[in-house]
Amino acid sequence: MFDVAILGFGAIGQELARMLMANPQVRLTQIIVRPGAMQLAQQIAAGLSPDARVLTQLDLSAPHRPDLLVECAGHEAVMTQVIPALESGLPCVLASIGALHEADAVERLQSAARKGRTRVELVSGAIGGIDVLAAAALGRLDSVLYVGRKPPRSWQGTPAEEVCALSELTAERVIFQGSAREAAHLFPKNANVAATVALAGLGMDRTRVELIADPGIERNVHLLAVSGSFGSMKIQLENLPLPSNPKTSALTVYSLARAVGNAAAAMVV
Ligand SMILES: NC(=O)c1ccc[n+]([C@@H]2O[C@H](COP(=O)([O-])OP(=O)(O)OC[C@H]3O[C@@H](n4cnc5c(N)ncnc54)[C@H](O)[C@@H]3O)[C@@H](O)[C@H]2O)c1
Repeated sequence: MFDVAILGFGAIGQELARMLMANPQVRLTQIIVRPGAMQLAQQIAAGLSPDARVLTQLDLSAPHRPDLLVECAGHEAVMTQVIPALESGLPCVLASIGALHEADAVERLQSAARKGRTRVELVSGAIGGIDVLAAAALGRLDSVLYVGRKPPRSWQGTPAEEVCALSELTAERVIFQGSAREAAHLFPKNANVAATVALAGLGMDRTRVELIADPGIERNVHLLAVSGSFGSMKIQLENLPLPSNPKTSALTVYSLARAVGNAAAAMVV
């Protein structure tokens, strides 16, 4: 059996726990939550994954030590919990990739993984085409553009409100153009995709990001356009939320479940 611990038990963590139950090679043994969230998490976990222990600290002692830690908690948890787990030699899978736009975060994760002689995997999450982009980056990349398009209401509470009156838009409006680093900083909810694209390709400063408020759409639409010595790629995703949880896109959870399945599998596609 391949034992898995989940760090963070919110929208993604709960759906991931549900999906892992369907994989006979994998056993969810630990769910790590904040101290104040124990009781509720125990109730939810009892219905989803009754064999998993709900804890506030990862248990790395034998025989409880898991084979893999999956982070779906947030930026702070990456720094405070994933880094020590890596240093102890535990392989980790990361969802909160936006955390890596901060100065020296990539280096800190890499050096923790090196110290523990293990590896941290950044999942593609809500975006696609990362395999092509990362392979293409081994040749010459000329340009990488990520365009995130959302209904105007999805940009409420962001700097987009200073650009235009979101509720009065009748046509699409570009609300941000700049580097992936600036985008991740100004629009933290988009930070994961912008940082993933940047890390796979041209980096945080040379990856261009455009964010659009579009009153003509209902779903979040991601476009990734890449050109270089390999040729060119344009990929567009129209992500649907999980039926059981509209807060998160189905693809992000599927992507994490795939990463866990791959870590346990004898063959990986
Ligand atoms: N890579 C992607 O494409 C992608 C897509 C969507 C979300 N995400 C990221 O995944 C993460 C989880 O997303 P979500 O929608 O499940 O969020 P959520 O807010 O629903 O759940 C996060 C949970 O983690 C808990 N948590 C935070 N810090 C913790 C800590 N130190 N220890 C234990 N628990 C902790 C929170 O209390 C919360 O219950 C976020 O960082 C989000 O930005 C990534």
